[in-house]
Amino acid sequence: MIGRTKRTPWHDSAFTRAMVAAMTVGAVPGSEVVLETSRLLLRPWRVAEAVVQHELWTERDPRVPPHRRIDADGHPTVAELEGSIRTNQLWSSGLLAVERKASRDVIGYCGLVDSERGSAGEPELAFELLRRVWRQGYATEASLAVLEWARSSGYERLWATVWDWNTASRRVLAKVGFTETERKEVDAVYGTNLLFTTRRL
Ligand SMILES: CC(C)(COP(=O)(O)OP(=O)(O)OC[C@H]1O[C@@H](n2cnc3c(N)ncnc32)[C@H](O)[C@@H]1OP(=O)(O)O)[C@@H](O)C(=O)NCCC(=O)NCCS
Repeated sequence: MIGRTKRTPWHDSAFTRAMVAAMTVGAVPGSEVVLETSRLLLRPWRVAEAVVQHELWTERDPRVPPHRRIDADGHPTVAELEGSIRTNQLWSSGLLAVERKASRDVIGYCGLVDSERGSAGEPELAFELLRRVWRQGYATEASLAVLEWARSSGYERLWATVWDWNTASRRVLAKVGFTETERKEVDAVYGTNLLFTTRRL
């Protein structure tokens, strides 16, 4: 999906100093993806951060379908999520860890996933943050960085799906330039999934 690569020592101070202030898109072919905004770094997940993913799973809204929530037997466990970070490229070059630069904590993910909705090469924007950091503009800031990354990677259009009840997510999509399409996916149990898209990036 997105260019992969040589490991960037994002935590190295020389590298940090080399980054320009507002936003840097580090998706150079052959190098690992690192995006920087004024408050955030978006970069590959580390195995030790599976606990953050587990917290996201634990906190999910009860209206979200069960396959995206911790099941009655406690799955996925932290160990299972660690395995996923180790083996699934999604966590290194798709859904990036969102790290706050000031506190150096990971607060969720933002990135691109393959989509079945549009044409080939038109991925979906996805984001999810820990509840304790909501309403501080982080999802908007991270999404703008991902949009710039998508543009510079050659994508011309993105998609996003959101449950109709998800006001915060719909607001974020509107703020970063997505518009609602006429297409909806109605689920008899969980409600209506709305489809959003960008104009040409
Ligand atoms: C969606 C999500 C990532 C937003 O993160 P965030 O960092 O709080 O987003 P931002 O602060 O950048 O923007 C949120 C916007 O929604 C608004 N908002 C948040 N909750 C709202 C609510 N219940 N009703 C109305 N507006 C709401 C905020 O006021 C803000 O808009 P504003 O800047 O115009 O005031 C976060 O709520 C989340 O992780 N939700 C669960 C996962 C999810 O829904 N992911 C998306 C799946 S498509």
